[in-house]
Amino acid sequence: MASRMLLFAVFSVLASVGHSQSPDAAVMQDLKKSLNSPTQLGWVDPDPCKWKAVQCSGDNRVTRIQIGNQNLEGSLPSNLNKLTSLQVFEVMKNQLTGPLPSFAGLSSLQTVSLSNNNFSSIPSDFFDGMNSLQDVYLDYNPFASWVVPESIKGASTLRTFSATGTNLVGVFPGFFGPDTFPSLVSLHLALNYLEGPVPPTFSGSAIQSLWLNGQKSSARLNGSVDFLQNMTQLTQVWLHGNFFSGPLPDFTGLTQLQNLSLRDNSLTGPVPDSLVGLTSLVMVNLTNNKLQGKTPSFSDKVLLDMRAGSNSFCLPDPGVKCDPRVDTLLNVVKDVNYPFQFAEVWIGNDPCTSSWKGITCNNGNITVVNFHGKGLRGTISPNFSQITTLQRLILSKNFLTGVIPTELTNLPDLTVLDVSDNQIYGPVPIFKSSVSVNTSANLNIGKNAPPPPQGGSGNSPGSPSDGDGRLNGSGKKSTGLVLGSVIGGVCALVFAGALLFCLYRTKRKRSGKVQSPPTVVIHPRDSGEDAVKITIAGSSINGGMSETRSHVSSGPTDIHIVEAGNMVISIQVLKNVTNNFSEQNILGRGGFGTVYKGELHDGTKIAVKRMESGVMSEKGLDEFKSEIAVLTKVRHRHLVELLGYCLDGNERLLVYEYMPQGTLSRFLFNWKEEGLKPLEWTKRLAIALDVARGVEYLHGLAQQSFIHRDLKPSNILLGDDMKAKVADFGLVRLAPDGKASIATRLAGTFGYLAPEYAVTGRVSTKIDVFSFGVILMELITGRKALDESFPDDSQHLVPWFRRMLINKDSFRKSIDPTIDLDEETLSSISTVAELAGHCSAREPQQRPDMSHSVNVLSSLAELWKPSEPADPDDLYGIDYDMTLPQAVKKWQALEGMTSIDGSSSYLGSNDNTQTSIPTRPSGFADSFTSADGR
Ligand SMILES: *[C@@H]1O[C@H](CO)[C@@H](O)[C@H](O)[C@H]1NC(C)=O
Ligand SMILES: *[C@@H]1O[C@H](CO)[C@@H](O)[C@H](O)[C@H]1NC(C)=O
Ligand SMILES: *[C@@H]1O[C@H](CO)[C@@H](O)[C@H](O)[C@H]1NC(C)=O
Ligand SMILES: *[C@@H]1O[C@H](CO)[C@@H](O)[C@H](O)[C@H]1NC(C)=O
Ligand SMILES: *[C@@H]1O[C@H](CO)[C@@H](O)[C@H](O)[C@H]1NC(C)=O
Ligand SMILES: *[C@@H]1O[C@H](CO)[C@@H](O)[C@H](O)[C@H]1NC(C)=O
Repeated sequence: MASRMLLFAVFSVLASVGHSQSPDAAVMQDLKKSLNSPTQLGWVDPDPCKWKAVQCSGDNRVTRIQIGNQNLEGSLPSNLNKLTSLQVFEVMKNQLTGPLPSFAGLSSLQTVSLSNNNFSSIPSDFFDGMNSLQDVYLDYNPFASWVVPESIKGASTLRTFSATGTNLVGVFPGFFGPDTFPSLVSLHLALNYLEGPVPPTFSGSAIQSLWLNGQKSSARLNGSVDFLQNMTQLTQVWLHGNFFSGPLPDFTGLTQLQNLSLRDNSLTGPVPDSLVGLTSLVMVNLTNNKLQGKTPSFSDKVLLDMRAGSNSFCLPDPGVKCDPRVDTLLNVVKDVNYPFQFAEVWIGNDPCTSSWKGITCNNGNITVVNFHGKGLRGTISPNFSQITTLQRLILSKNFLTGVIPTELTNLPDLTVLDVSDNQIYGPVPIFKSSVSVNTSANLNIGKNAPPPPQGGSGNSPGSPSDGDGRLNGSGKKSTGLVLGSVIGGVCALVFAGALLFCLYRTKRKRSGKVQSPPTVVIHPRDSGEDAVKITIAGSSINGGMSETRSHVSSGPTDIHIVEAGNMVISIQVLKNVTNNFSEQNILGRGGFGTVYKGELHDGTKIAVKRMESGVMSEKGLDEFKSEIAVLTKVRHRHLVELLGYCLDGNERLLVYEYMPQGTLSRFLFNWKEEGLKPLEWTKRLAIALDVARGVEYLHGLAQQSFIHRDLKPSNILLGDDMKAKVADFGLVRLAPDGKASIATRLAGTFGYLAPEYAVTGRVSTKIDVFSFGVILMELITGRKALDESFPDDSQHLVPWFRRMLINKDSFRKSIDPTIDLDEETLSSISTVAELAGHCSAREPQQRPDMSHSVNVLSSLAELWKPSEPADPDDLYGIDYDMTLPQAVKKWQALEGMTSIDGSSSYLGSNDNTQTSIPTRPSGFADSFTSADGR
């Protein structure tokens, strides 16, 4: 009996020893220890399989550890991956710290939840060999920057991957697509530092819940959201707070979609009806994008976040259709993926307002579309043919591909089509001979197909020519007709004279072989000289087709016809409003003539510049008109606006907005005589910034800059709020002979002239930068650029100021004594002095661009927090919503007169091509509607 008892005891002991020697016991003890032996878990039994929240298999292997939300502290032991039977490991919502150990080799682990702890890092082999993994939760741990290791690809059964707020960096992992993880339903990677696009491999994924919102890197996630289109299982999509751009895709297939948050991105284009019509929708967030077209009209049941005015919809009321012109323009930019730069400024329902970049109108009809150099990618939209009033279509210098749509030949009023400098291919459709077509600098123009992608003959999928039959036109037939239009082109070139014809002939003769089209481009010079530069290009490309074309770049020849019509004001009106040019109305006399103040019946003031006879020769008439047409379209907050003009016999008059405070020189140099208060430094700084912005805008107008050439304080005008505007830009070009007039005016303006300009007449934007530097020096010192009342060696401001800059004392002495000098002001002035020095460097290449000055000055001006009036334009007493023709009509009505000519009867016929040529390169029309450069 006793022996039986003993036997039993021995057996029991053996059994219990066997039990406590579970292969996982040691690791579990380590785990307990590194969790600071938490009493709340009651882990005291030697057998971990008996511990609370731990489960084991039949063979005593630990399979589940579920100790989430227990206020645990401590860390995880490094040998945790010896628990090779572990299936579920949950420690979320504790305060665990230290690095995560590797879980490599935990091939049974299905669920791992580590969220909401303080783990400091995750090792790169963490996921190695975890082939059973289904659900991973890592959210909200302050890991050292990491990337999702590729080894997770072994977990082909993955359903959930959640790593919000874990400092993930780099590009969006390419392997989360359906090929690798066919079962993935939930992917949460919000609040990390991911950047770049969502890769195309993602498309077609069966994910239901996708959170990518709020990436914190400076780049964020970007590119298109097209990947959504084929993710038909989606119920919840959070993409807000990124840089996603381009249009929304078709949502037809997303029939389960409940919550879609797209706010705070850069999305453009219309909200598709396929989204609005989804009946599954619960919540949609669209605020702060640049979505276009009509305001979408979602069902009342949808919780909608679409703050008014935070997108670029045409009208505020949901569902109300846009003006057809708006829709047409949207159809046109669809083929270039709705560029952000347009979506940003194409605001409202009237494309003829000045914010509509690239669009110029006449009487509410779109006449010019100028997308020169906008970096556009995509194809030329056949929908341009819907803009039936289009006269000039400028698409030069982009990355457009595809063919020129034949639909464009239907445009009845088209005179210029410029597609030069793109990647257009295929035959050129046949346009009327009145259309000047420029196709130069397109490598494959005239070839029947784009260069094959990889030697294959088909187009790559998604290539722009997919499915359009436009490439199938008969090359031969069009060649013959194209030759016909060449002759037309050559005729149009006659004005350029025999020289051009000779060049053209020589070229043809020299090359015995069949040639690709020689391209003749006429570059109008900026300088006002009457030389015409001719380039012949494209001769080395063998297009394999015997077509020959000449292309005339779109000169400005039609500008004055097209755009100027409404700017003409009759002399009678101007006589009336200036009191017959009475002495009392004289505001000042400038290089080009006398400026009179005029007052309309409603009290609106204007300034009328009456050009001196002799300044304008009869020969310059056409040039005058086309220049004026250009100038009247230049609009910027810091440029004095030219409102109209008048030609009458020998009289040339320009009508400007009135600037009540007059010139900057009054305030700088004549304040005593005029009983004015000297300008405080903050005002001077603000004026300098205004001028810099105005000039920066002029310089950035077109691919060839608009250079003022005569910047000086007497050309800077001030409004009642002392906001400054630059005046007289463009006038130098109106003089009959640019060089001669410079010489005659040299004396007056000498102190402002850049050395290279004074000596050689060489013109670049840097001559304005130089003059601007001189103006800065004048603002600092209160001294004129050239002051003969000073001793010889200090008459010239620039060298004198440079000498004064050498030490602190002399610098202080050089500062205008009327400026109150405290430390802050002195430091601000020093910065401006330094800028002035750079701007007036001897060598043009050493001078910074105007944008640099804008940056420097705006950072200084910001320190002063200048008060911006709500709409400074109001202060000038001009109703900017009223076009000049409207204003004229108003005066007319008041005066009962009929002599105002709003038509183009003053303007010559089209045969003045030659005289108009040296004015403006193609692409200039762009500036007409450029947005204010603030
Ligand atoms: C992580 O640690 C910080 C300080 O080190 C502490 O403030 C925070 O509460 C901790 N977070 C968690 C989730 O334990
Ligand atoms: C996306 O961001 C990357 C930088 O992370 C940048 O190089 C790329 O040009 C951007 N792409 C788009 C479409 O904005
Ligand atoms: C969606 O799937 C269709 C058919 O598989 C494919 O043709 C299309 O390119 C896909 N769209 C996207 C945006 O991936
Ligand atoms: C969508 O949002 C609503 C409201 O917040 C919520 O009740 C619902 O569960 C969400 N749907 C999904 C699929 O997340
Ligand atoms: C989305 O819009 C709903 C409804 O206005 C709002 O409750 C929710 O907070 C918004 N979500 C985000 C991420 O802005
Ligand atoms: C466009 O031009 C035509 C004729 O030139 C004119 O009748 C029409 O009023 C203009 N404006 C609009 C918006 O169509």
